[in-house]
Amino acid sequence: MIRIDRARLEETFREQARIGATTGGGLTRLALSDEDRIIRDRMVAWLEAAGCAVRVDRMGNIFGRRPASPGGPTDDELPPVVMGSHVDSVPTGGRFDGVLGVVCALEAIRALNAAKTRTRHPIELAIFTNEEGARFQPAMLGSAVMAGKVSLEDAYNKRDRHGIRLVDELERIGYLGAEPCIPRPMRAYLELHIEQGPFLEEAGLPVGVVEGIVAIAWARVTFHGEQDHAGPTPMPARHDALVAAADVVKAVRRIPLEIGRDMVGTVGWLDVHPNIVNAIPGKAVLTSDLRAPSDTDLDRAVERLEAAARDAAAAEGVRPEYEPLMRVPLTRFDTDVVGAVEAAATTLGVRYRRMLSGAGHDAQHMAAICPTGMVFVPSIRGKSHCEEENTHFDDIEHGANVLLHAALTLAGPA
Ligand code: HGY
Ligand code: MN
Ligand code: MN
Repeated sequence: MIRIDRARLEETFREQARIGATTGGGLTRLALSDEDRIIRDRMVAWLEAAGCAVRVDRMGNIFGRRPASPGGPTDDELPPVVMGSHVDSVPTGGRFDGVLGVVCALEAIRALNAAKTRTRHPIELAIFTNEEGARFQPAMLGSAVMAGKVSLEDAYNKRDRHGIRLVDELERIGYLGAEPCIPRPMRAYLELHIEQGPFLEEAGLPVGVVEGIVAIAWARVTFHGEQDHAGPTPMPARHDALVAAADVVKAVRRIPLEIGRDMVGTVGWLDVHPNIVNAIPGKAVLTSDLRAPSDTDLDRAVERLEAAARDAAAAEGVRPEYEPLMRVPLTRFDTDVVGAVEAAATTLGVRYRRMLSGAGHDAQHMAAICPTGMVFVPSIRGKSHCEEENTHFDDIEHGANVLLHAALTLAGPA
């Protein structure tokens, strides 16, 4: 039975982890940054060395196609089995999030090449642009455009904190590709990813067979108050934007606890202006990230959050602005693809459990345009989006073999 080459996978993983490495043992590789360009160039070189034909689309998504017959034509008419994820990270993030799925997909292609395996459907590796949404909001933007959820023009005009446009950065790093970024026939999409939560480790299991992904709602809330002097301004005369924002920060914690049923809420971004000791904040901007395994619950939470923002603004006499940034529905993966992942684990004798993902992934958008599934490997102490992010390579080896065999099943024999 074909297997991945663990030593080769570990070496490739170590090499990618040097690009954007932080002194704390993690990664900072923001979308379309110089670090992103370097890892992209490295991945393209590795794909070409593996005999793949590489194409880049207009959102900078990278696709490397392995021909069904090694050395054969790469314009096979049969739709490919695509394995992919992302290579961008959050600031001071981990070495595994996203890129592990990409290097495991590369290793699967290398293992197929080494075994001179022919498949009925060609196999592709995909690298999606701006999955994290750390620099340009929203998250999963490259796959969202491909799935027709966000227009190319809207994506192009997204700006980072410094006002730099996404399209200009794509051009600057040389990844403004020519291929249309639109849905195309795919036999299946498979994504291996770290769990980024505690459940597999708690259960002592090396692999998760992912059945779907929670619903996610992001928003940006801005409060316009009155900047003034911190000293002479009497308390009743104040219109403090940060005081209103503080009420919403507490609401984003309170609402999920009130609704329950595994809902979570986070305020991860807070900007205050002018952000100095002795001026009453005239402006405060925060983001909310609400997630739930139920669209009904999530819609209810969003309504309550909007009401909380209105009430906080009225109480402080400031003006609120509520801007939805992203809304992805609860995603259920294709039963045949989930079955292929489960069958691969069973064939390999790898213990697993079925589960839902609490983190968003490009698979969420790919599920809208082709049969999709995911393979999880455990996160040590469930940690992610931090430099402590880590996963045992024994588990990665199991996960990569499950990915390889699920892809083989879906690609079918030549
Ligand atoms: O937000 C997420 O869940 C993913 O890391 N982009
Ligand atoms: Mn990720
Ligand atoms: Mn992430």
